[in-house]
Amino acid sequence: MANYTLTINGKQKTVEADPDTPMLWVLRDALDLKGTKYGCGIGQCGACTIHMNDNAVRSCQIPVSAIGESAITTIEGLSEKGDHPVQVAWKKHDVPQCGYCQAGQIMNAAALLKRNPNPSTDEIADATHGNICRCGTYNKIKAAVADAAA
Ligand code: FES
Repeated sequence: MANYTLTINGKQKTVEADPDTPMLWVLRDALDLKGTKYGCGIGQCGACTIHMNDNAVRSCQIPVSAIGESAITTIEGLSEKGDHPVQVAWKKHDVPQCGYCQAGQIMNAAALLKRNPNPSTDEIADATHGNICRCGTYNKIKAAVADAAA
C-alpha cells in the first residue's frame, strides 16, 4: 500500500491504495464517486471512461500509480450543474434507456468535442462505437453528440 495524492475534479485527494489498483475502484470505493461504472473490467466496454488531462481513458485499465500529476475528471466533475453541452443534448434527445453506460458515453463524447469541436458524422461514429450500450441507443447517442457539437 502507498499514499497517492491525486487531482480529481479540480481538488487534491489523498488515497491509500495498492499501486496496481485500477482507478475505477479508487474512484468508486475510496472516493465514493459512483458515477463511473464497472462494466467489463478488461477495457472493452467503455462504461468506466473518465478524463485524464482531457483525454478519454478507461479507468479499469489505469492503475492508480500511473496517474501522477495528471488531472482526472469524472462525470461528477464534468460540469457544475449537469449542463455540459453533451449532457444538455443527452437530455434533449432522451438518450438513456437503462442508463448504465451513459456516464462513460458522455465522458467519451465530451473528450471528442474537446479535441474536435466540429466532428463529421463519420468521426462521431468512429469515436463512439467503442462504448457499448446494451440497450442499443446508438442512433440517439450519435444524434446527441452531433447536436452538442452544433
Ligand atoms: Fe472498463 Fe469495461 S469496465 S472498459
